[in-house]
Amino acid sequence: MRQLLGTATLFAVCATAATAATGSDNAALEQQARQLVAAFAGQLKPTLKQALEQGGPVHAISVCADEAPRIAASLSAESGWAVRRVSLQPRNTGNAQADEWERTRLEEFDRQAAAGSAPGTLHASTVVDGNFRYLQAQGVESVCLLCHGENISPAVQAALTEYYPDDSATGYAPGQVRGAISLTRKP
Ligand code: HEC
Repeated sequence: MRQLLGTATLFAVCATAATAATGSDNAALEQQARQLVAAFAGQLKPTLKQALEQGGPVHAISVCADEAPRIAASLSAESGWAVRRVSLQPRNTGNAQADEWERTRLEEFDRQAAAGSAPGTLHASTVVDGNFRYLQAQGVESVCLLCHGENISPAVQAALTEYYPDDSATGYAPGQVRGAISLTRKP
């Protein structure tokens, strides 16, 4: 029995998209989660790109500050899932702090990215207290460096400090994990 429990715990801890689907229900939830991740990125990335093109990074920060939480809230309202973004170095300290499961998985994503995995391939799922949870890593690309990199321009830095006085989301390099989209199926 000890042996069995140990194996079950290890399985839960190590669960990734490939291994977490313990039944058809979980497989279906995982499929939904992937679609929501795609929907979130599919709305946010063009918004960010357009804001950058139209007004540059300082303008894009104000757009991101409004639009990222709005998109998360509207997807949450229409999907039956709680949708948010989290990070080990959050910018929005009000809603992007990782909880224990997210933190453990993000630390693992960091190790995997440092070992050469592409962040876009890193995801995890689990069932906590009967709720299905899914975490999809968001990798740092060159465009992200404008606002999350090591050499932030003074104007961008000033805007970040104004909107996010406790910001810790700078100093990243391409290929690292910036954070993740975190989904919890509402009971
Ligand atoms: C124009 C500046 C800008 C660029 C470029 C940018 N971000 Fe951000 N990022 C922000 C702002 C502002 C927030 C906080 C948004 C909020 O309040 O929810 C943020 C928050 C995040 C978060 C949520 C966690 C947290 O720290 O609050 C993630 C994940 C993230 N960005 C990933 C990326 C990735 C990946 C890229 C590149 C594809 C990127 N960002 C490019 C400004 C930017």
